[in-house]
Amino acid sequence: MTATPPTPASEVLDRVLVLEMVRVTEAAAIAAAKLIGRGDEKAADHAAVEAMRKAFDELYMDGTVVIGEGERDEAPMLYIGEKVGGAIGRGPKIDIALDPLEGTTITAKAGPNSLAVLAAAEEGNLLNAPDVYMDKLAVGPGYPDGIISLTKTPTENVNAVAAAKGVKPSDIMVCVLDRPRHEELIAELRKIGCGIQLIPDGDVAGVIATTNEDTGIDLYMGSGGAPEGVLAAAALRCVGGQFNGRLLFRNDDERARARKWGITDLNKIYKLEELAKGDCIFAATGVTDGSLLDGVHRRKDGTLTTHTVVMRASSGTVRWVKGEHRNK
Ligand code: FBP
Repeated sequence: MTATPPTPASEVLDRVLVLEMVRVTEAAAIAAAKLIGRGDEKAADHAAVEAMRKAFDELYMDGTVVIGEGERDEAPMLYIGEKVGGAIGRGPKIDIALDPLEGTTITAKAGPNSLAVLAAAEEGNLLNAPDVYMDKLAVGPGYPDGIISLTKTPTENVNAVAAAKGVKPSDIMVCVLDRPRHEELIAELRKIGCGIQLIPDGDVAGVIATTNEDTGIDLYMGSGGAPEGVLAAAALRCVGGQFNGRLLFRNDDERARARKWGITDLNKIYKLEELAKGDCIFAATGVTDGSLLDGVHRRKDGTLTTHTVVMRASSGTVRWVKGEHRNK
């Protein structure tokens, strides 16, 4: 008897996995939500990781974590290179970038905008980004290609976006992580007189906010985690927008890590398609309420409600899924 060849990954991404991924981020968000405001970042993260790991087992795929909780020796579960899925060796080969709890501190403090998030693509299509910082620059859809660039100064980028939008530079709103390392950037933006939304954490949501006019955010600027950069890029591939990312290294150990993942040009500026190529899926479920998604809530009758967005690059489809979960 001849074995049935595995279903091509492209077909599975298309027909099955888009909605299946919702279950995975929902499971992580529900688990983390039980620890909202409990002051314990590690416990919240651990709960999300365990739930996400378990939910992957239900999916018909031969998945590999390419961006995860860390390297094998530092993460017991969902480490880079870990195989996930219920059809390892037989199902379609899918690469997964994940952050079961993006915003561990936010969750511990019951702040806004923490998410359970993942991106999935055919094998080889997501950048294997090392866990270093990345300089990020993002703008939403509707602007001429190349309007922003990390080769330009923040002032030049703000001026370019303002001119294209037909407003004064001081009318532009920029989202920046509130960190001492961004002091110079913030001072430059203050000189222009533009608005700055300083966020305490959670730059995946910060980057995605540029794609939603209701947030009032035009640009995202500043450094954050490189893995979060790949996740945000996958989302922008689906909904439009432009992104530049450049890895930042603090020491030789970080440079060696990058080389280990096959990165040769350490100064390269990555655009969207170089971070997330081909068809890809992005899914996020809100843990705490935020600009993109509502968080997990428990109704009086005990039902848990979730809010998820799932998007696909090749079709540009964006689905908003409201879940009601009983017996949880
Ligand atoms: P965690 O989910 O690991 O807490 O990350 C939150 C986050 O704010 C990311 O969104 C961001 O990319 C990164 O941390 C920034 O790193 P740092 O806190 O070191 O500035």
